[in-house]
Parts: sequence; C-alpha cells; structure tokens
Amino acid sequence: MPEERGTYYITTPIYYASGKLHIGHAYSTVAADALARFKRMQGLKVRFLTGTDEHGQKIQKRARQAGVAPQQFVDRIVQDILHLWDVLHISYDDFIRTTEERHVKVVQEVVSKLWEQGDIYKSTYTGWYCVECESFWLPRQLQEGLCPDCGRELEKVTEESYFFRMSRYAEPLLQHIRTHPEFIQPESRRNEVISFIEQGLEDLCISRTTFDWGVPIPWDRSHVVYVWLDALSNYISAIGYTRDPDLFAAYWPADVHLVGKEIVRFHAIIWPAVLMALGLPLPRQVFGHGWLVLEGGKMSKSKGNVVDPLVLVDRYGVDAVRHFLLREIPFGSDGTYSEEALIARTNADLANDLGNLVHRTLSMVERYLEGRIPVPGHLHRIDQELRETLAAAAAQVQRCMDELRISDALASIWEVVRAGNRYLDRTAPWSLFRHGDVERGGTVLYNVCELIRITAVMLTPYLVDTPGKIWRRLGLEEDPGSITWAEVGEWGKLPPGLRVRSGEVLFPRIDERRAQSDGRPTSGRLPGGVGE
Ligand code: MSP
Repeated sequence: MPEERGTYYITTPIYYASGKLHIGHAYSTVAADALARFKRMQGLKVRFLTGTDEHGQKIQKRARQAGVAPQQFVDRIVQDILHLWDVLHISYDDFIRTTEERHVKVVQEVVSKLWEQGDIYKSTYTGWYCVECESFWLPRQLQEGLCPDCGRELEKVTEESYFFRMSRYAEPLLQHIRTHPEFIQPESRRNEVISFIEQGLEDLCISRTTFDWGVPIPWDRSHVVYVWLDALSNYISAIGYTRDPDLFAAYWPADVHLVGKEIVRFHAIIWPAVLMALGLPLPRQVFGHGWLVLEGGKMSKSKGNVVDPLVLVDRYGVDAVRHFLLREIPFGSDGTYSEEALIARTNADLANDLGNLVHRTLSMVERYLEGRIPVPGHLHRIDQELRETLAAAAAQVQRCMDELRISDALASIWEVVRAGNRYLDRTAPWSLFRHGDVERGGTVLYNVCELIRITAVMLTPYLVDTPGKIWRRLGLEEDPGSITWAEVGEWGKLPPGLRVRSGEVLFPRIDERRAQSDGRPTSGRLPGGVGE
C-alpha cells in the first residue's frame, strides 16, 4: 500500500466544467486539502489530485447555449475554478483536465484493452438517460418517470452502443467489499452499495453516438466514451498509467477517493469493476462525505440559490470559510449552510475562543513582562493537567483524521483552546503579577504561549493564514506549516526571550446586521455563470 511506502494519494472528484462552482463544491476540495496537509505534516509524500470533468452531453449542450465551441467554453470555466482554488489555498499537487492529451490517451488505452480482452461488446441500448447526472437508468429504477437522483426529466435513448461486461465483476466486487470493511466508508454508504450490487449488476453502456464531445472510441470513431468512464480514469491517467511506471507504482492504488455521497455508486461499483478488468489493485478507500444543504433544501443552479464561495471569502476571510466548511459538517452526514451559521461559527470559535486566548495572553506578556516570553519555573499540578489535555487532544486529532472525521478533529483542537482560556481564568496571572509573584505569573504565561504555539501548528491543515499570524505574534519567524506532526508532542520548544506582539484582534466579531448590508448577495445566480 502506498501509505506503507511513505506515500499518500488522495483525490477529489473532478468537477464538471459546466458552470461556476458553489460552496458545496468547495466543501469537497477543502476537506481533501485539509487531509492532504495533515498527511504531509505526518511526513508522508502526498499526491493530492483534483481537476475538471470536461466532456459529455451536458457540457456540449451548455456550450451550444452559450454560443461557443465546447473547448472554448470549458477553458473559460477552468480559469474560474483555478482561481477559486487559489483563493481557498488548495494545495493540490496536480490538476487534471479530461481534455488533456495525457488523459485522452489513457482513456483510449483503457477501452482498447477491455475491448481486446472481450470485456466490451457491441449491442443496442434502449433506456433512459439523465443528461444532468450523465447517468443511464433502467425503467424499474425511475421515480415517477423521473431521474431517481436529481428528479429531472429523462431522455429516452435507443442507440447502438458498446457495453462493458460489468455483470462479470459483481461477485468478485461483493467479495472485496465484504472482506475490506474500510473500502467504502462511512458504513451507511457501504450498506447502500452492497444492497445495490445484490440487486444485480447490469452490463454498462460505455459509449454514445448522439453527440461528439468526448473521447472517440479508437476502433469506431462514431462513438465517444461514456463520460463517467472517461472521468473515472483521471485517477490513473494523472499518475502516468502506461506512461510513467515509477510514478504509477509510487501512488497506485490510491489511499482515498474523497467524493460526495451521490457519486459513491460510480466510484464503488463502476470504477472498481473497471480496475478489476484492467488487472489493477483497487483503491484503499472510497469515502462518501455528506452534503452542505440550505435550510430550504438542496443547493442547485436551477433553483438559483447557490452560494458563491468567492463572495464569502471576500467578506469573511479564507480561514472563516474553511473553518466553517470543515467544522460544520459532521462525519458522514449533511450540514446546513446559512450565512448566519457561518457568522455564528466564526464569532464563537475564531473570535471568542481562539482570538481571545491569543489576545489576552499576549497583552499580558506585553503588560507584565515587557513583551518578552519568560523563562518558565517548575510546573504545578494544574500546569501538568494542561499539558495532558493537549497531549490527549493531539492523539484524538490523529485518530479522527485517520477516520476522516475532520469536524471532530477540529472539535478536539478547540478543546485545547478552551482549556487554555479556562487555565487562564483559574490561574489568574494578572492577580499573580499584581501580588508580585512574577515567577509564577511568568510560568503561567509561558505555558499558555506554548499551548498557543502548538495549537497554531495543529491548525495548519485546516486554517491557512491564522497559524502563521499567531506565530509571528509570538515572535517566531518560521512557517508553522513546516513543523511535523511528531513535533506537536514536544512541549517546551518555545524559546524564552522572544519578543511578542499582541497586535490587532485576530478575528473581529462580525456584526450580523452589518455583515449583510454591503448589498452583495452571496447566493443567487452566479455572475458570469454560463448555463441554466
Ligand atoms: N464530474 C462528476 C465527478 C466525476 S469524478 C470521477 C461530478 N461533478 S460535480 O461537479 O457535479 O460534483 C463534484 C463534487 O461536488 C461531488 O463530490 C459532489 O458531491 C460535490 N458537491 C456538489 N454539491 C455539493 C453540496 N451542496 N455539498 C457538498 N458537496 C457537494 O459529480
């Protein structure tokens, strides 16, 4: 497994280049980013892949509506997506576009191999197609004649097509899922997939002839490859399948494909069946995260209620948005987005708990210790307890991250922040100084400063600006992101004598009424978005 070899390969879904991305899409990517950063901190050689899904009937249709060629259409959207990932500080190592030659070649190699070995055959497809989800459905799967996933109208399709013998792989796949409980997570998603396969797997239609925006089937160029087979192959094309054996061997099988719950099916059935047919090992895990929903239900472009992450970052800052996304959606379930919830979360966690801890501590160092980190004296029981709380929380963060419970990992870090505030309340250093006990007061402040230093390091996978800001206020010049996870356990590395700066408050409290009065909507039809 790559992780045992010191590498870690994590992927996001590749986003449809059909319109601007909203806060729900940002969630998938920010979560993967936090995980990638955490694994790097643990010393693994991480490859974090994201990208764009640029072929298919939906995109061809949108391009036509916009009156431009499909390539021109997707090129424009990809620019916006890259900009969004920059703004959110997404630390991807590679960005794959399905229109790139390195990808197209692999897709053609994949289908050719399956064709040559008899895993693909030609027949006629008659059934229903959802252009929005790019999914085929059987009559028995429809819900009141509509797409069971998105509820939209379907197209009746009768086409001569190529089929992948997926039914062949139903048994081996079930066997794999049963013997590898970690393969599909969380548990609820795993059960859904098992019962889906138990109902019987049909062969999969893998080519289309009624439009041409796709990868041509090499031996029959009137067909283009089904967009999901095309898209799923990105996970191997991006690491040099058939082209760069060393790179491929270092990272395949992937450690985790992080995907939204509605596309687990594609990743946990179609993709592994194709990999089995190719004779490749299966990814270690497909993790289906929950959705960010609005109080009124699902966020969707057609409802015109999507939330623009760029406006939110502009208004509240990148760390407030990242923190909200990572903290608000609990492990495996859905979370509700509202601007009020974002403000409440920012005020409670960042302004009150973290911001106050830093500000009150450093102000006291300035006031009572001439702004210098003191030399600590011997530790009291309450100081030991503080260190133990930190050590327990660090262990818990690691456990949570191993299980992709990102929100719980952040909750554990906030246990530390709150413990720091409680410790200050209980030890009351201001009163120690007033009574002339400079040594004990100094020890208390040293302990809190050290706690803050380590907390900032622990926050580096999640927040991108704040940890560095905190370190500079402590007088530290390095980048906290360069510290390894193992060093989180090393108490006492904060050098006495550093000059601190309490500075401006880290996170000013957001006044809810003022926040929304700048007139710009965060939701609605995204400006410049092409399409619906
Ligand atoms: N192109 C396919 C994926 C191909 S992967 C081989 C696709 N693209 S998508 O742009 O529609 O969605 C990409 C990801 O965004 C999915 O994981 C999806 O779950 C996620 N999200 C879209 N809206 C979301 C929310 N409202 N909340 C959380 N995630 C959501 O599907």
